[in-house]
Amino acid sequence: MGNFDNEINRRRTFAIISHPDAGKTTLTEKFLLYGGAINLAGSVKGKATARHAVSDWMEIEKERGISVTSSVLQFEYDGYCINILDTPGHQDFSEDTYRTLMAADSAVMVIDASKGVEAQTRKLFKVCAMRGIPIFTFINKLDRDANDTFELIDEVEKELGIATCPINWPIGSGKGFKGVYDRKSESIITYSDTLKGTKEGHTNVIPVSDEAKVTAEIGEAAKDKLFEEIELLDGASSEFDIEAVRNGKLTPVFFGSALTNFGVEIFLKNFLEMATTPLPRRSGDEYIEPTEDNFSAFVFKIQANMNKAHRDRIAFMRICSGKFEADKEVTHVQGGRTMRLSQPQQIMADERKILDEAYAGDIIGVFDPGIFSIGDTVCTPGMKVCYEGIPTFAPEHFARVRQLDTMKRKQFVKGITQIAQEGAIQIFKELNSGMEEIIVGVVGVLQFDVLKYRLENEYNVDIRLEPLPYEHIRWIESSETDIASLTGTSDMKKVADLKDRPLLLFINSWSIQMTIDRNKGLVLSEFARN
Ligand code: G4P
Repeated sequence: MGNFDNEINRRRTFAIISHPDAGKTTLTEKFLLYGGAINLAGSVKGKATARHAVSDWMEIEKERGISVTSSVLQFEYDGYCINILDTPGHQDFSEDTYRTLMAADSAVMVIDASKGVEAQTRKLFKVCAMRGIPIFTFINKLDRDANDTFELIDEVEKELGIATCPINWPIGSGKGFKGVYDRKSESIITYSDTLKGTKEGHTNVIPVSDEAKVTAEIGEAAKDKLFEEIELLDGASSEFDIEAVRNGKLTPVFFGSALTNFGVEIFLKNFLEMATTPLPRRSGDEYIEPTEDNFSAFVFKIQANMNKAHRDRIAFMRICSGKFEADKEVTHVQGGRTMRLSQPQQIMADERKILDEAYAGDIIGVFDPGIFSIGDTVCTPGMKVCYEGIPTFAPEHFARVRQLDTMKRKQFVKGITQIAQEGAIQIFKELNSGMEEIIVGVVGVLQFDVLKYRLENEYNVDIRLEPLPYEHIRWIESSETDIASLTGTSDMKKVADLKDRPLLLFINSWSIQMTIDRNKGLVLSEFARN
């Protein structure tokens, strides 16, 4: 055990997952408000100032020669040190978004109460579920007309396959939103929107045993409905079980409104109590405890600079054990070299600070002279550790790459291979062939533009991308399967990845099951384990 256990145990490192517009940014803003990291709500991403902020970043990038997008927010609240990992949505959605989840110890899932479970939430949830990390649900926008609460809960259970345990329960929604019922204290906490979201809006707590007072506060009709729902809920919902929460089998559910700041602090407090301290991480057959004396970390994301030579990049590392000290030497396990990490820094909402020290659970960004790969381990020299790699995630968009100038074949192959090795895109080729026919797969479509741009600018190669209709990819896990004789469906294509692993592309999702049914012993996987 190290002598900085307290520092480590007070850390909570999590990602917020949601579909764009569900309220992730607004909720983050409110968290920061409680942490005192910002003075007024609205400073994280005021949409009007977003563009301004971007150009500021570019200036900093130019000055310091490294590329940065906001990656982690750290703040203090109630004795906890909180790290929120950014999972970009919209068109920035990419494999990095998934990789970031590998660095989190838990996830907060934000759902819009009038939309329910949406596509991007589903995808991100799957990745969290694969790791079995705790997932906390915040159902947002109760100040607007919401779907029926039971239906929302049911949707989470059925669509995502996780049991739910509502910790509180909304009383009405939209204009009729009155607050929440807290199941543990059996009290209602009423809502008032007098503070325009700058402070928590709840003031009044009334135990439901005082029925007259409850009626006076929320009205007869709302009270009757609430009492009925409580009875139904107590009969139907799963028991709260902290072990099941920590294993990712049960999600505690909270309700509120991030915009008007109701239910946010209630959520934050409960979340911090229920969420885990930094988790041990697997290295070979053992798990390394975060409180172990030696420093160790793994690289989960590499950000290449779009404006400069691609070697100018920053590697984001999650510290898994011990304490990081800027002046100490570390070993890069995969490279077999001992070195000092250059310009270690933490990326805050709108500033970066050079770090002197950081602890297990924290994220640091270091200047990468082109030696790190996704999944690499760094540690105190002499420590025997090599963290398990980060899986390759299923791309969802595919295109055939046409190279326009055949004279530049060599540069083209070199460029596209290097970019694929960095992890920005995945490339596939025809089975048993060289690099004659290349198909590129990406998680987010913006990566197509990045590829084209980088090939032009860094390798002087022009390409044309022809979109392909495939949407589903499965790696073949069963070693006895002979890919050549495999019987598929008419919409299926057999290809291989850069490591020559065979895989299948499908246009229709139902073809996957059909192919499994037609080939005895065939095992397919959505993730390629490295
Ligand atoms: P995201 O990061 O998940 O994409 O969502 P974001 O927080 O940016 O919120 C998306 C929109 O939803 C914003 O409105 C935001 O104000 C609104 N919103 C977030 N939480 C709530 C809530 O609890 N209740 C209500 N009624 N609205 C909420 P916008 O009009 O798109 O942007 P803005 O101009 O208000 O910033």
